[in-house]
Amino acid sequence: MSTIPGNKVAVIGGGGNVGAATAFALIARGVPTEVLVVDVVDKAAQGQALDISDASFMMPGTCRKASFKEAGQADVIIVTAGARQQPGEPRSNLIDRNYTIIKSIMDSLQPIKSTAKILMVSNPVDVLTHIAQKTSGLPRQQVIGSGTYLDTGRLRNALSEITSVSPSSIHAYMLGEHGDNQFTGWSSARIGGRPLLDHPKLQGVDLESINYKISRKAYEIIEAKGSTYFGIGMCASTIAEALLNNTSQVFPIVNYVEGFGCYMSWPAAIGSDGVEQSFDVKLDGEETKKLKIAIDAIKEVCDKYQ
Ligand SMILES: NC(=O)c1ccc[n+]([C@@H]2O[C@H](COP(=O)([O-])OP(=O)(O)OC[C@H]3O[C@@H](n4cnc5c(N)ncnc54)[C@H](O)[C@@H]3O)[C@@H](O)[C@H]2O)c1
Repeated sequence: MSTIPGNKVAVIGGGGNVGAATAFALIARGVPTEVLVVDVVDKAAQGQALDISDASFMMPGTCRKASFKEAGQADVIIVTAGARQQPGEPRSNLIDRNYTIIKSIMDSLQPIKSTAKILMVSNPVDVLTHIAQKTSGLPRQQVIGSGTYLDTGRLRNALSEITSVSPSSIHAYMLGEHGDNQFTGWSSARIGGRPLLDHPKLQGVDLESINYKISRKAYEIIEAKGSTYFGIGMCASTIAEALLNNTSQVFPIVNYVEGFGCYMSWPAAIGSDGVEQSFDVKLDGEETKKLKIAIDAIKEVCDKYQ
């Protein structure tokens, strides 16, 4: 078994569905890294790590169970640990339960490698990213969250079906708070260098129904099979790869936006130092109102966890 020195990704909560899907996606995407699976339930971490290691024999990455202390020395620390939503439960209900879990995880990881990047996935991801930054002691630019990247993927898939253009060529973002206060940046969206809303196949389409469908998708999946994990696993592994490989790719991720004074799902370029640039997205009047609602909602909760 080969290991890759100086290229480690830890998945805390890797015994669960999202953590295992993330660890598996790192291996299956061919990211040349050592994936460390950590969980408070040791047997769950062991089982997932052994199973995923079976998938690694023809890939450059490796996977094994590890301790919290080892995970603290990883280059990227992905946190998927926490209570998950019950059918019909809003993400905001999880805050108190997950605050305690995130604080104890950050304590167990100490000392955290000074150059590590933490990627929060556990919900509510915007607030938990703020809490992880406060409790980890790492600089803001090194602590981010998966945010509305998954929702943006859902949006691009939906728009791709309507316009017959590849999702990767549709430059449109879900913004704001991952959850009830997310909104689509329609006015800044582009396709082939043109405003997205000028596309002939979008004329007469009810945009609100697209938004509604996207915002309900997680609930629909949870109702049907208990939890969502494949999509977010792919998103988290893609973000981790960008951090490891210093790609400067732009993602709509939770990052600290100075102009808002809080963490927010907002487009940012990321690389080996974490957040390299956050962008000033153009919004129209309605979108500006929605952004204000999202900022107020996130700040109201974050103020309780200073
Ligand atoms: N950001 C997103 O887009 C997105 C999408 C899907 C799920 N999620 C979130 O991901 C989280 C995990 O969901 P899941 O379906 O994998 O749940 P799960 O119950 O399957 O897994 C959670 C895991 O966390 C572990 N855990 C709990 N406390 C821990 C601790 N202190 N240290 C280490 N491990 C601990 C549990 O043992 C379990 O294995 C939830 O908060 C869920 O809301 C986020």
